[in-house]
Amino acid sequence: MSGLQTEGRVDTGRILTVESLSTTFATERGPVRAVDDVSLTLDRGQSLGIVGESGSGKTVLSRSVMGLLPSTARREGSIRFGDQELLGPGAPDMSRLWGREMSMVFQNPMVSLNPVMRIGEQIAEPLRIHLGMSRRDARSTAIRLLRDVRIPEPERRVNQYPHELSGGMRQRVMIAIALACGPSLLFADEPTTALDVTVQAQILDLIAEQRAERNMSVILVTHDLGVVAGHTDVIAVMYGGRLVETAPTATLFADMRMPYTEALLASIPRLDQPSHTRLTTIPGRPPELIDPPPGCPFAPRCAYARDRCREERPPLTPTQDPTHSYACWYPVGSPEYLETREQLAAGLTIGGRP
Ligand SMILES: Nc1ncnc2c1ncn2[C@@H]1O[C@H](COP(=O)(O)OP(=O)(O)OP(=O)(O)O)[C@@H](O)[C@H]1O
Ligand SMILES: [Mg+2]
Repeated sequence: MSGLQTEGRVDTGRILTVESLSTTFATERGPVRAVDDVSLTLDRGQSLGIVGESGSGKTVLSRSVMGLLPSTARREGSIRFGDQELLGPGAPDMSRLWGREMSMVFQNPMVSLNPVMRIGEQIAEPLRIHLGMSRRDARSTAIRLLRDVRIPEPERRVNQYPHELSGGMRQRVMIAIALACGPSLLFADEPTTALDVTVQAQILDLIAEQRAERNMSVILVTHDLGVVAGHTDVIAVMYGGRLVETAPTATLFADMRMPYTEALLASIPRLDQPSHTRLTTIPGRPPELIDPPPGCPFAPRCAYARDRCREERPPLTPTQDPTHSYACWYPVGSPEYLETREQLAAGLTIGGRP
């Protein structure tokens, strides 16, 4: 791993290149293709948001990159981390990369933290195992990490147990553990869903701040487009195991093309609405991953779908801007889309019939 972890060096360039990655689980009902032909890249210091509804394959995609999958899973394609290929013969032993090069903040700190072990020891453990630090050095590094993640009185907190901390503080400890060995890539899978809105924002700010300070890359996984809006450089929208739209964050919000992305945006809870307003969830269910029907996977739920959408699968195609791609035959703004929208607004269905 030389060259990937030179301290103090401002390093740019590609950290992750995923090409045509598919991940299939063998199940009794048949093969489940949870990740289907996904390609993406991530630069050093950049943050990528992976967004999509439940079951769209976000966790399986991140676990595929980390090599943390059950034995029923098979990966095909290519995953390059720095200049190392992680798939196929010659792939490195992933346990050498975990913690040190890639690490993960999990959703629920109460499950992931050991309830009978002091906070300090839980942070010190990876430092001792991966970096071979002495007990004393690991303890002082743990205190420094607690300070980095803005935990007040770290000298006292280091001796406490998880139950003595609030939910937000526990999530900060999880981040300290993930940061301990100075990874170049951090995965945060729904790191804030168990927290209230204010604490959520603080945790996301903390991750962003540590990313900038450490020139670390971040992959933020969430079902909420609102969560990634202010905290990522690039967004990849997933549906049924596929990428259906990718773009720099500002471009995506200004010029989204996929009706699915639009529907996800409409389902963001709005702060200006009374707190008990029902969210607009997208009607219908996500697609079958065993033997999926032909055509666009979103077609059965898409208000703008036409015959072609049900018959022919739209490929992920770049717009004039090569950093913005989408997979849709009748994207937002196209004449067909506008026609349907007018009909919907007039209370008519496609074809002009009520
Ligand atoms: N071990 C497994 N065996 C078979 N299928 C699996 C396995 N793990 C995940 N899947 C399937 O892969 C698909 C994608 O799951 P994944 O957990 O990646 O979704 P997700 O986007 O992370 O959803 P959520 O937002 O609920 O976390 C789902 O249909 C799931 O049932
Ligand atoms: Mg998930």
